[in-house]
Amino acid sequence: MFARAVKTAACQGAKNFSTTSQNNVKVAVCGASGGIGQPLSLLLKNSPLVTELSLYDIVHTPGVAADLSHIETQSKVTGYNGPENLEKALKGADIVIIPAGVPRKPGMTRDDLFNTNASIVRDLAAGCAKACPKALIGIISNPVNSTVPIACDTLQKAGVLDPRRVFGVSTLDIVRANTFVGEAAGVDPQKMSVPVIGGHSGVTIIPVLSQTKPGVNFPQDKITALTERIQEAGTEVVKAKAGAGSATLSMAYAGARFALALARAMNGEQNVIECAYVRSDVTESKYFATPLLLGKNGLEKNLGLPKLNAYEQELLKKAIPELKKNIQKGEEFVKKN
Ligand SMILES: NC(=O)c1ccc[n+]([C@@H]2O[C@H](COP(=O)([O-])OP(=O)(O)OC[C@H]3O[C@@H](n4cnc5c(N)ncnc54)[C@H](O)[C@@H]3O)[C@@H](O)[C@H]2O)c1
Repeated sequence: MFARAVKTAACQGAKNFSTTSQNNVKVAVCGASGGIGQPLSLLLKNSPLVTELSLYDIVHTPGVAADLSHIETQSKVTGYNGPENLEKALKGADIVIIPAGVPRKPGMTRDDLFNTNASIVRDLAAGCAKACPKALIGIISNPVNSTVPIACDTLQKAGVLDPRRVFGVSTLDIVRANTFVGEAAGVDPQKMSVPVIGGHSGVTIIPVLSQTKPGVNFPQDKITALTERIQEAGTEVVKAKAGAGSATLSMAYAGARFALALARAMNGEQNVIECAYVRSDVTESKYFATPLLLGKNGLEKNLGLPKLNAYEQELLKKAIPELKKNIQKGEEFVKKN
């Protein structure tokens, strides 16, 4: 019962999932011992889509791997500790999910994490370039608006960048939007689909409430309140945890949903669509989240901007300068380091 509930939740939208075309999928989690890494690894261990789970961290990985390996599912679990084992952990990975790095404390913005997390993501991306240059990489570590350009430019420096294979995981923004809008509209959040575009911080998070499925019809003050709540939902959790970190469980759920969407697309499932933050030419911002059609090689087709109303156009205008600044900061870091 539990297994079915988690599987259904983590595979939301897996309507066409066919077991007959299933291939082996090895997933590596970097930062696997952390607040996100552990429950994320648990959800992946619970999915029949994952045949091998490789856990990497700088602390506690053998224990986390031993613990998970006792769960009665078929996937093989291995744990690797410390930078000297990074390449072993990544070798043969089809999908790499990165929740490594420090989270926010009350009063901090995601950008305040830049100094610590930039080099962590750079080093992990350099490991991917050597050990699994064809892997699909999902980056959770904040500030996502900057860490995705850091990963791309590091892969570029190593001569192996394929921008279709690098994603900033913004799925939690969609999960939150589905929950809040579903609650407000009296619709089961599992049946609600809200596109969230832009980036993953404050004003760069743009929920497109005019294009939800099913459609909703709220007055403008309600739309403004919902939009602001979705933009600041991470801070809501940071405040409630009062110094003990940021979202971990909902992020693990969202990270598993995204990783399993990649795995489903890799296995040949058609019509797998998720929003994520990628290299993009849809707007003036070099990286931007929009709905993406996923395929065997990652991003198969960028589905572009949903239709925006006047209010959403204004949100987009506010987001672009902030995104450009965040992206430039990431790019300069790789140039200088
Ligand atoms: N994208 C999103 O929507 C989203 C949501 C929530 C949190 N986050 C981000 O995810 C990151 C992790 O959050 P958390 O709550 O799990 O933090 P955490 O501190 O609980 O865990 C981080 C883990 O990363 C490990 N780590 C540190 N340096 C490493 C390295 N060089 N290589 C491998 N592992 C390393 C730590 O040992 C730790 O186990 C933070 O940057 C946070 O801001 C993103």
